[in-house]
Amino acid sequence: MDSYINNLLEINRERQAELGRSPRAIVRTFGCQMNVRDSETLEAMIINMGFELINDENETDIELILLNTCAVRENAENRVYGRLGTIKRLKNKNPLLKIALCGCMAQQEHVADTIKRHYAFVDIVFGTFALQKFPKLLYTNLIENEQIIDIKNSQGAEGVLPQAHSHVFTHRHLAKKAFINITHGCDNFCAYCIVPYVRGREVCRPLEEILREARELAKDGVVEVCLLGQNVNSYGNDKNSGAARKGLAFASLLKSIAAVKGIERIRFMTSHPKDLSDELIDVIASEPKVCKHLHLPMQSGSTAVLTRMNRRYTKEQYIELALKIKSAVPGIALTTDIIVGFPGETDADFEHTLDVVRKVRFAGAFTFIYSKREGTPAASYEDQVPANVTRERFGKLLSVINPIIYEETRKRTGNTLRVLVDEKNGDMYKGRADNNALVHFTNTADCVGEFVDVKITQAKTFYLIGEAVKQG
Ligand code: SAH
Ligand code: SF4
Ligand code: F3S
Repeated sequence: MDSYINNLLEINRERQAELGRSPRAIVRTFGCQMNVRDSETLEAMIINMGFELINDENETDIELILLNTCAVRENAENRVYGRLGTIKRLKNKNPLLKIALCGCMAQQEHVADTIKRHYAFVDIVFGTFALQKFPKLLYTNLIENEQIIDIKNSQGAEGVLPQAHSHVFTHRHLAKKAFINITHGCDNFCAYCIVPYVRGREVCRPLEEILREARELAKDGVVEVCLLGQNVNSYGNDKNSGAARKGLAFASLLKSIAAVKGIERIRFMTSHPKDLSDELIDVIASEPKVCKHLHLPMQSGSTAVLTRMNRRYTKEQYIELALKIKSAVPGIALTTDIIVGFPGETDADFEHTLDVVRKVRFAGAFTFIYSKREGTPAASYEDQVPANVTRERFGKLLSVINPIIYEETRKRTGNTLRVLVDEKNGDMYKGRADNNALVHFTNTADCVGEFVDVKITQAKTFYLIGEAVKQG
């Protein structure tokens, strides 16, 4: 184990004697599953340092607060700055409290500058490339008590794999489900997006390493894995692998994971439409372990906007692909991401977005208002759409897409869906069906962590309600 973790454990043992309880830590995670996965690694480090992980925000007796941040939209960053305001008050009450900021937002130079200038009480700022250095940074700060900022991009131009995240060293939140990183970073440079700048160049983890992780997770009782990458379809296309043809490597990776005994469900995100291969469609259709759900971000329905976004597909290509998948995999749930108000978007462009929504009929969607990100090409586009126009389009989009999502969800009523149960909430159990539908249901016996057949009795826009077929 990291020698800094051992040093911190020693320090925390002494503090435990003084405090009469374990030192406590809180980790707050913003953003996407990549960050959730990173937090699992950070939480494992924190536990091994001898902290007790707690969840209560209002707790005053805390020794460490770590914010793992997201930079994808301005409001994600504003929430973090807001949180820092509250934390400052805690720090005033308890000078021994250590505050650390990490993740995508922290990776940006201008954020580090702001923290240096206006948030001197933040002890440590470290970026996405310094994840594994957290124990060293915390130890050094404890000894020297000076603000540390480590946001170097250690990849260089060539792109190297950040130090492997070992699953052994992770604090999984659910016993039966796990994330597996298959790629890090992104090379697509969509004109609006900050991710390539804060996560670096795309690198694929070696197939053998991913398979070893899947096997060990299965041994540990995990039955569902979710493969993570900014664009999983480009897995194996990097210069380090010999994959012969686009998309082929990801399809065969899915087949190899499906062969792992004990893994019963495989999910993945996210798929970029430009790299989605026929082989992948075949695997989703034919491999029972691969879930019948595809998240396929469209971003816009206008070819002109898509071109300026650097998405590298047209409206027609997107529709054709989506409909091809729906007919090849009956019952598949297709979900998407849509951005409204990208610079230069006209009313006619926006109508194309609505047109795609009506033609494809998504089972779910994340809808976003375009947010200007410093350092991305689109931030300097001149024709930014006025906020009131964007707001109006956003409302219109919701009024078109939500009834469609409801209709698609409602089709599942009367069906019996196999649900992997995540948690119990009040009287209801909550879990996901193969098609990723969220299902709330009743059962007379405890079934958290199990697969349960649930008869669907009612549909809401964003979830289904049902009852276990075999009670007890
Ligand atoms: N790699 C994934 C997406 C990661 S970001 C993909 O390509 O699909 C998740 C979503 O956030 C994107 O799909 C996009 O819809 C949205 N997004 C990214 N940058 C944004 C910005 N500047 N403003 C608004 N939404 C944005
Ligand atoms: Fe961002 Fe595009 Fe990469 Fe997704 S594919 S992370 S939207 S640059
Ligand atoms: Fe994810 Fe946000 Fe970073 S969406 S990759 S946590 S910028």
